[in-house]
Amino acid sequence: MAEDFILQIQHISKSFPGVKALDDVSINIRPGTVHALMGENGAGKSSLMKCLFGIYEPDSGEIILDGKPVRFNDSRQALDAGISMIHQELLSIPYRSVMENLWLGRYPSRGAGPFKFVDHKRMYRNTVELFKKLNMEIDPRIWVGKLSVSKTQSLEIAKAVSYNAKVIIMDEPTSSLTEHEVSQLFEIIRRLRGEGVAIIYISHKIEEILTISDDVSIMRDGRHVGTYQAESLTTSLIIKYMVGRDLSSRFPPKDNVPGKVLLKVEALTSPHGGSFKDVSFSVRRGEILGIGGLVGAQRTELVEALFGLRSVESGHIYIDGQEVTIKNPTQAKSHKMALLTEERRATGIIPMLSVKENMLLANLKRYIGPLGLINEKQGENDALKNIQALKVKTPSAKNKIRDLSGGNQQKVLFARWLLTQPDILILDEPTRGIDVSAKYEIYTIIIDLARQGKSIIMISSEMPELLGISDRIMVMCAGRVTGILEGREADQEKIMRLAAQFM
Ligand SMILES: Nc1ncnc2c1ncn2[C@@H]1O[C@H](COP(=O)(O)OP(=O)(O)OP(=O)(O)O)[C@@H](O)[C@H]1O
Ligand SMILES: [Mg+2]
Repeated sequence: MAEDFILQIQHISKSFPGVKALDDVSINIRPGTVHALMGENGAGKSSLMKCLFGIYEPDSGEIILDGKPVRFNDSRQALDAGISMIHQELLSIPYRSVMENLWLGRYPSRGAGPFKFVDHKRMYRNTVELFKKLNMEIDPRIWVGKLSVSKTQSLEIAKAVSYNAKVIIMDEPTSSLTEHEVSQLFEIIRRLRGEGVAIIYISHKIEEILTISDDVSIMRDGRHVGTYQAESLTTSLIIKYMVGRDLSSRFPPKDNVPGKVLLKVEALTSPHGGSFKDVSFSVRRGEILGIGGLVGAQRTELVEALFGLRSVESGHIYIDGQEVTIKNPTQAKSHKMALLTEERRATGIIPMLSVKENMLLANLKRYIGPLGLINEKQGENDALKNIQALKVKTPSAKNKIRDLSGGNQQKVLFARWLLTQPDILILDEPTRGIDVSAKYEIYTIIIDLARQGKSIIMISSEMPELLGISDRIMVMCAGRVTGILEGREADQEKIMRLAAQFM
């Protein structure tokens, strides 16, 4: 019965050159529910949502909102009709204030006709009010570029909610949120649901899906596999529906054997101790050192400093027993270090370049021969090898990276740093936005690198991942190391206790 559904997606298909992204997808959404959408990287989740939100035009099929067929030529029309969306990629404008980003295209104004002015006071008041309602602490006047990734994501959430939509699409809203922010978001979601809003919720975090959703739709290779009641699902069932087979373990066997210390960090302190202070640790060859902590732990800041992206006030870094200075990434690379960063949009991918170019970027020297000639063949081979190893879903190595699904972009970045053949590989949330089976591939590669004697440092907010592959886990809180646990004796509770030591 049509009136039971706020939104009906009927027989939607959409192709791109070389890819059938959506193949006859039909899904019904009930009002006042959280409807999760799951599927592997490249399954078509974001594409389907972009069809709903007027960004892509479906090749065929129909969208019925509130019983009436609708067709949107752009997102403006979707917003006006009552659909809003939090995008997987953060789209804010860095050199504008938080409030300007929030109300972009709908600034409150005063006066009339040619004497119409933006009413900044009202805009400020509206912003404060909205943040208060959502329990968010963000300064409305600060530049968005100054916000942390997680605050930027919170801002996107606030924006989507501010349109008072009937249907809110959330495409991986928690990929960069801290645990506290995730529970805040869940509160917001529950309240919206209570008000009758339908939320379409996309995430790769199965635990999250089972907590928050009422209905779960699963997609595979552009097709709708089925829609299930969340209560009837389990983690292994979801994986089975998504992947098309059972996945017996989420972590590959560990067979790396740590050897001699390769990297030693002594009392590293940021300027005025403003970020991290007195950080000391070492990583052995063949060892995977996990770094755990909550928001504000300054883990990202620490590894950025190690890689020469931030200055330090004092402390020492030794590689193979020799003290080194690392003032910029070029020096870090010359010491055979590599850093996979937290936010792929800001510091990672170059959207206009191809998959291959994005992969080879950090390592161009390797492909230039004695006469300055570029060895195209070698580059091509390396790119193809990695596309295969990481199962990157792309029609070819020549396609633009911006056309890949979010998770597949992340895999390309991972490949980029692998190709530099580093001795010390620093990974900041390496599996963010990556589906369960691709995670397994990435863990396999990380463990394999360790087995070859490389040192791995991995920041992760996913407890199972930290526990699943680290040899040791260093926990930070408010810029300090609060403990280093042997992987064997670590558990969730011990990590949490250390992570919240000064709170
Ligand atoms: N603008 C585009 N041009 C070409 N191909 C595209 C475009 N947008 C999406 N695709 C392709 O459509 C397929 C589905 O991508 P989509 O982004 O919908 O996946 P997803 O399920 O959201 O994956 P992820 O979990 O990685 O975000 C992918 O193969 C992707 O490369
Ligand atoms: Mg997506």
